[in-house]
Amino acid sequence: MGECILLNNKSILYRRCLADVKLMAAGKEDEYIAKDSQWLDQVMLENTDLIDGVYEGGFKTWECSLDLANYLSECDDSIFVNKRVLELGCGSALPGSHVDFQDYNELVIKLVTMPNTLINTLSKPETNEIDSKGLFEVDVDLKALDNLHASFYSGDWATLNENGTEQYDVILTSETIYSCETHQKLHDVMKRSLRPNGNM
Ligand SMILES: C[S@@+](CC[C@H](N)C(=O)[O-])C[C@H]1O[C@@H](n2cnc3c(N)ncnc32)[C@H](O)[C@@H]1O
Repeated sequence: MGECILLNNKSILYRRCLADVKLMAAGKEDEYIAKDSQWLDQVMLENTDLIDGVYEGGFKTWECSLDLANYLSECDDSIFVNKRVLELGCGSALPGSHVDFQDYNELVIKLVTMPNTLINTLSKPETNEIDSKGLFEVDVDLKALDNLHASFYSGDWATLNENGTEQYDVILTSETIYSCETHQKLHDVMKRSLRPNGNM
């Protein structure tokens, strides 16, 4: 996975990770960062991975999301062609681009999920195009964005797709079963969101 793409030979779009969020948080320039500044300060200054019920770890890219991305790269494409996919607890959004994404925190969606989805959609570098630092430059065709159909949801699993109106063929999730208290909510949202014969 590369770290940045060069847009129109001028602007560089970097893949967002925890370090980038730290930089943005220090500036507190954006209104939506200032709104969440109290817990954000704690996450950034104390290197806290989780604050139970407040921040659920989405800024960091956890090891299992890399395992999930590797696993998906080995799967037959037919699993995803013309399928509706939902990633629960997406954080950095490594696994895919034609997917609906959910994270507990709105700030995670805005600061890391959305920009990374954009990069994953616009750039598909070959391994030999990525340098030793993980950087690559590609000419991007912004028309690729016409094919991006993604929705982004934030909030608790208990309130996601409450009536089961959204139905998915595939539901992905990684590093989301660390808290016994939330197992039931995760189970329930998967059950009401997965089509009959769908895959998890
Ligand atoms: C440890 S992070 C994992 C992020 C990403 N999947 C990865 O592997 O890098 C756990 C994720 O689970 C989600 N999560 C945890 N508890 C949740 C809850 N009660 N409701 C909604 N999402 C929750 C958060 O969105 C958070 O980003």
